[in-house]
Amino acid sequence: MKLSTNTIKRLVSVAVLLVAQQSSPLSAQTIIPIQTQNNALVLEAGKNKDLNIIFFGKKLNDINEYPLVSGMYKQTEDYTQLLNSVYTPSGSRNLVEPALSVTHSDGNNSLDLRYVSHKETKIGDDISLLSIVLKDPVYDFQVILYYKSYYKEDVVEQWSEIRHEEKGDVTLHKYASANLHLKAKSYWLNQYHGDWAKEMQPEESKLTHGIKTLDSKLGTRANLFQPSVFMISMDSPANEDEGNVLYGALEYSGNFKIDLELDYQDNLRIVAGINNYASPYTLKAGEAFTTPAFLYTFSTEGKGAASRKLQSWARNYKLLDGKGNRLTLLNNWEATYFDFNESKLSDLIRDTKKLGVDMFLLDDGWFANKYPRNDDHAGLGDWQENQKKLPNGIGSLVKEADAKGVKFGIWIEPEMVNPKSELYEKHPDWVLKQPNRDEHYFRNQLVLDLANPKVQDFVFDVVDDLFTKNPKLAYIKWDCNAVIYNAHSAYLKNQSHFYIEYMRGLYSVLKRIRTKYPNTPMMLCSGGGGRVDYGALQYFTEFWPSDNTDPLERIFIQWEYSYFYPAISSSNHVTDWGKQPIKFRTDVAMMGKLGFDIVVSKLPENDLKFCQQAIKNYNVLKDIIWHGNQYRLSNPRENSVASMAYVNEAKTSGVIFNYLVSNRYAENSKTPIRLKGLDPAKKYRVREINLYPGTKSSINSETIFSGNFLMDVGFNPQVNSTRTSVVLQLEEAK
Ligand code: DGJ
Repeated sequence: MKLSTNTIKRLVSVAVLLVAQQSSPLSAQTIIPIQTQNNALVLEAGKNKDLNIIFFGKKLNDINEYPLVSGMYKQTEDYTQLLNSVYTPSGSRNLVEPALSVTHSDGNNSLDLRYVSHKETKIGDDISLLSIVLKDPVYDFQVILYYKSYYKEDVVEQWSEIRHEEKGDVTLHKYASANLHLKAKSYWLNQYHGDWAKEMQPEESKLTHGIKTLDSKLGTRANLFQPSVFMISMDSPANEDEGNVLYGALEYSGNFKIDLELDYQDNLRIVAGINNYASPYTLKAGEAFTTPAFLYTFSTEGKGAASRKLQSWARNYKLLDGKGNRLTLLNNWEATYFDFNESKLSDLIRDTKKLGVDMFLLDDGWFANKYPRNDDHAGLGDWQENQKKLPNGIGSLVKEADAKGVKFGIWIEPEMVNPKSELYEKHPDWVLKQPNRDEHYFRNQLVLDLANPKVQDFVFDVVDDLFTKNPKLAYIKWDCNAVIYNAHSAYLKNQSHFYIEYMRGLYSVLKRIRTKYPNTPMMLCSGGGGRVDYGALQYFTEFWPSDNTDPLERIFIQWEYSYFYPAISSSNHVTDWGKQPIKFRTDVAMMGKLGFDIVVSKLPENDLKFCQQAIKNYNVLKDIIWHGNQYRLSNPRENSVASMAYVNEAKTSGVIFNYLVSNRYAENSKTPIRLKGLDPAKKYRVREINLYPGTKSSINSETIFSGNFLMDVGFNPQVNSTRTSVVLQLEEAK
């Protein structure tokens, strides 16, 4: 049947009205638009109640025109009417990668999902939650799709809830969080890979027909080799300020799978969720299986705008205390490793004060007695202070720090155990290992079975005891250095639930911790960046991007993380890695949440003076770095000079970090670097800060520039081989 434009418009108006009425039964054609400030994802249920995606992209001015979009495409036939399914069921008409695949209680493998109703609830000025009920017409099986949209930030979080009332159990073979369908001439995937000290290495390639999968099977610290964050540019590769680009990420810390299927019609299907690898899930009647959220944002103004939307969403809604403050710190890991005692720590606490940071952070090595933690072979799991190193316990150190006017934080790795530990001896059944096979270690340790409620209690108690005994404890660095080998839980009856139950156990512990200690800052660390994701970051205030703190490497690593995570969440420490001078190292660490991991007492006088002044400067600038808008000005992968700016909301203050990233002959900032995010009508003064004692800036801070000049002509930071790192402070000149 062909519908006239007017009929379509009328039908759409009815459907839109029904959305406004919050709940709607099925009309002949139901259009469900999920709209944010700039974008729309539009769904349509036709006569046969299949719910399909008919539009994704920059939103149209007239909502009534969405049903006209598909008529503009003359692609090959869709033999299934499901290629653009909102949540592709398998085993009935479907011929492509499914979102959901099941075996019913009677052994039948087919699934069909038809639209039943939807409901939209306004959660706040900025947030709406849409839920859509889909049901199988034959089996008593239903899926509720959830779309939580953040209007101003253009972000959507999507997840699903799967239930049934069949006579027996249903097996879920695949259970994605979301299923998207994009139309473009071509698709360019920007993905990441890595390893220890080489996190977030980007790779961009054109997607070809078939399926490209991004996944992890590591169990925990799941994104060591490949994180779930990615970008899809449409039509041509987007750059910083131009192009259509979608960002996606799974809010989950365990195994994930993202299938990017370029189908025979040349459309891109994205199916994202928990990895079903070794994990068929037995779902009981009446039980709900809720998937983690897949989040996405879309920009028609390139990667920079997309990243600012995501960063602002994270600060406003996801990252714990995203709009709050953070503590600068001195960490003792690289200063002492495992070799310390009370008197050494006392000196370090004194140095913390001298340096001018907020907190001393005691790292690995403070615990275990029968098998003392003197290296990484023993002690993990035995969370009692080592009597030899700390005869007066943590309590006396916390007190001492308090007396010196600094805060005290502590390192733990509570999910892990060394085979050489009392915990392992007492509770071998708490450890993940195959009963009949050799143990296989990652950093000489094994992972505890968080699927077991007793282990969950144990992990909660590790944190709770520390805070109960030391109420003034100010910070936790939560490490996680092993992946899961020989995945087997002595507790679980059904091993194929293991990977999922492990994550449920972890999140349940983190929820308990946050219920009791809602605000205490905690760093998500994983021997480098093996764990950061928005599933975990709702419990953590910051993450550790990499053990690689060589500042030259860090410019690249931090650059890539910054597309997905705000600067306030990135813990950057000044260490002795790399050949760069202290100024370069400190400048790079200042681009996020600043910390130090150096021997302060061994710093040459001028280095110490420099650090002390840089910390003072950071205290002035940190509000802009943590809460302002971030602009990538000059990409280190494309230029000899890297440049990154942060500008406050009012566009009155900013800071620009510039580095020489090439040591080829006479490389320098030959041309001005164009600033972004300023007010063209405002006047600004640019002043160089973080000068090493005894050096003078070659930049004249008296000149006043318009925002227009700084953004259209640019500013030359005068980076060269004698000025390899230049920090500029920008202030409105009144
Ligand atoms: C790995 C972390 O990334 C380091 O910062 C340090 O905390 C060590 N673990 C301690 O074992």
